[in-house]
Amino acid sequence: MANPATLEPRAQEILDRERKAYEEANPKSREAYQHSTRVLPGGVTRQLCYFPPFPCYADFGEGCWFVDIDGNRRLDLFNNATSLILGHRPQAVMKAVREQLARGTAFQTNTGLETRLAEMLVERVPSVEQVRFTNSGSEGTLMAIRAARAFTGRPKIAKMEGGYHGSHDVVEVSVRPPLDAAGPAEAPTPVAESAGIPPETMAGVVLLPYNNLPAARAILDREASRVAALIVEPILGSVGFIPAEREFLAGLRAEAARHGIVFILDEVQSFRLSRGGAQALFGIRPDMTAFGKIIGGGFPVGAFGGRREIMALFDASTGRARIPHAGTFNGNPITMAAGIATLEQLTESAIGGLNATGDRVRERMRALGAKYGAPMQITGIGSMFKIHFSASPVRDYRSGQRASSLIHEALFLFGLNRGLFLSSTGRCCLSTAMGDTEVEKYLAAVEEFLSVLAR
Ligand SMILES: Cc1ncc(COP(=O)(O)O)c(C=O)c1O
Repeated sequence: MANPATLEPRAQEILDRERKAYEEANPKSREAYQHSTRVLPGGVTRQLCYFPPFPCYADFGEGCWFVDIDGNRRLDLFNNATSLILGHRPQAVMKAVREQLARGTAFQTNTGLETRLAEMLVERVPSVEQVRFTNSGSEGTLMAIRAARAFTGRPKIAKMEGGYHGSHDVVEVSVRPPLDAAGPAEAPTPVAESAGIPPETMAGVVLLPYNNLPAARAILDREASRVAALIVEPILGSVGFIPAEREFLAGLRAEAARHGIVFILDEVQSFRLSRGGAQALFGIRPDMTAFGKIIGGGFPVGAFGGRREIMALFDASTGRARIPHAGTFNGNPITMAAGIATLEQLTESAIGGLNATGDRVRERMRALGAKYGAPMQITGIGSMFKIHFSASPVRDYRSGQRASSLIHEALFLFGLNRGLFLSSTGRCCLSTAMGDTEVEKYLAAVEEFLSVLAR
């Protein structure tokens, strides 16, 4: 297997060539981007929507494709950061949304749709006895953490190095820390992910290494009496869909119980893995769960839920709630209608089919890596996957950092020029709208890239 560094000069050549081709083929997107930079910092309103030399602008979506304003048809392999599990504009969801649009888009009262979607989550996820909706996954994790603090009377949270839970201060710690500031692997140092996060926030975060139970246990033994919540993704998402080892997740769950810490499973992305989410797959029962993405059927959404006695903190029916929870668009009927219609489509067999395709894609990519002697590690589970251009296995944030981002960037641009829309971070996911023909198109492009890279 080649060392990724030896392939980087070739990757740079490919990248330069593909960038030029992209610039030539996308004049309207270039113009739209230049126009946007006047009023949006960096031309975008969401970091992931930028990539150099300039992002493409979508015109419309259809199934597993979208068409951009230059008329390029692109196979969507990121599905708005995993949220469009049925692809673009699925008929059943569009019908439900149209029907609700005709009735109204927002009310300062309930419609019952929020009750139905909450029932669907409660039916599918046994650990979730009650639910509250929010407008984003970030708000979902924020409220779950606040509930844990109120419930335990403790101030701190424990999170994973490399774990992403949204954009609020306490979780924007050590998501992608520079390794020279991150301390020892077995006892990582909290590093602010962004300017503007008060330094004292770091003192409220206990950082744990992913997939290293003995080290995590040792840290919790020291810190537990001040820790309210232990929040973890069953699949480390932002680093590249790195699944937790089952013993790790089960061990953390047991440690949380032993120390009286509220165990929060962040299923914002992983809920697409089964009808009951990753917790059903791993056989874990968290105290609280955060949701987002697919439960909104393509519309803005988040939710949190869990044990009844914790969720009771939000109950204002008997006087003032211990945790007042507002939000102008919480449970808005368009999102709720779209979410219900989406979950109705997500039968056991629909999700099973999607996961089986994911298994097939990972297997085929491993075979391609072997065929071309490419330094490739394929991570992922179910319908989510990522290629890491690295010669050594990837099981946590730090091992993920050994991969070449340059080779990946070359693949991303190479794909863009051949009708594929991968994510600019290399993560990919499938939608039920995708058939074998599309999967083969993706694999053929990866193979073509590897053959060019090996030349
Ligand atoms: C695991 C996880 N938690 C939380 C979030 C935040 O969700 P949102 O972007 O809806 O705020 C994300 C978003 O990607 C996520 O992947």
